[in-house]
Amino acid sequence: MASYKLLLLPGDGIGPEVAGGLKVVLDTLAETGLATFETETDLVGGCAIDAHGVPLADTTLQRAKDADAILLGAVGGPKWAGVAYENRPEAGLLRLRKDLDLFANLRPAICYPALAEASALKRELVEGLDIMIVRELTGGVYFGEPKEITELPGGGKRAVDTQVYTSAEIERIAHVAFDLAGKRSGRVASAEKHNVMKTGVLWKEVVTRVHSEHYAGIELEHVLADNCAMQLVRRPKQFDVLVTDNLFGDVLSDIAAMLTGSLGMLPSASLGAVDDRGLRRALYEPVHGSAPDIAGQDKANPIAMIGSLAMCLRYSFGLGEAADALDGAITDALAGGARTADIASNGADAIGTKAMAQAIAAALKHRAG
Ligand code: IPM
Ligand code: MG
Repeated sequence: MASYKLLLLPGDGIGPEVAGGLKVVLDTLAETGLATFETETDLVGGCAIDAHGVPLADTTLQRAKDADAILLGAVGGPKWAGVAYENRPEAGLLRLRKDLDLFANLRPAICYPALAEASALKRELVEGLDIMIVRELTGGVYFGEPKEITELPGGGKRAVDTQVYTSAEIERIAHVAFDLAGKRSGRVASAEKHNVMKTGVLWKEVVTRVHSEHYAGIELEHVLADNCAMQLVRRPKQFDVLVTDNLFGDVLSDIAAMLTGSLGMLPSASLGAVDDRGLRRALYEPVHGSAPDIAGQDKANPIAMIGSLAMCLRYSFGLGEAADALDGAITDALAGGARTADIASNGADAIGTKAMAQAIAAALKHRAG
């Protein structure tokens, strides 16, 4: 069986713990013959600042370019609050996204049957929920220039961020959303604020054009981003694929995460364009952050990280069977009662990060055996 090169970037806070949960799952994948990987580990974020003075060393960026796929834990924490803005931990992650041109961020929000009670919403609203958020990841206000704080002559300061999109950037993310919808229920909702923003006007125009030129069989709905946030909480199951810009995608995906029970449940894939050899650059990471308040206590939920590995199997290596087995193992572990603190309800006994990863690995072995 082919062996793929994975770069592990555990990062900060709970990152190393949830990435640690990957190891037992990777071992089980190899043992059961489902997939084997060569892994390398490197630094990103605050830990890279401590070691190299920058949140992403050039050597790490090169390793990321050479790897078949990257799995990242989380970056950031109060320890680096005083670091210069350009060098903050998050800048390491943003540089990876930008320099590898990972423009398509897929964030599936799935409510596992066993977790419907853990959601902040009523069971009937979230049971069976399966939304795919497609977030544009390399444009918009995250990267637009100017981006600065200047001193005003009369005293006080002025801060500017720039929201900017080209039609080409909108086109390529629209294609990703429509292509995915074709493999799902055939429905796309596109969220922007064309009532206030010029980028929203262009976004709506381009998405409409891509749809009418190429995807007649897909249903398209436009929704204002604020209304979309409200609808996600009111009646989330009305959505299937939801495509939106970088900033709205950041906010809407955190909302979607809570529908599934916990921010600790949501995996993500950040994909580049397919090259001449049919390959694409890809980074997989949980949607949750570094959660410094619970770091180092074996409390974090590793499911978003392990789910990100399942996405990696599916999207980078076409290992659909192994991905299904791993997703199924997460479902089985939850159905068997395994709960980390964030998803334990009704005083159920919570288990730690390591035990949860082991429960998933055991379920995987069982499925493969
Ligand atoms: C996310 C995170 C990042 C973002 C941070 C850590 C820079 O919130 O991936 O959603 O804002 O994109
Ligand atoms: Mg976020």
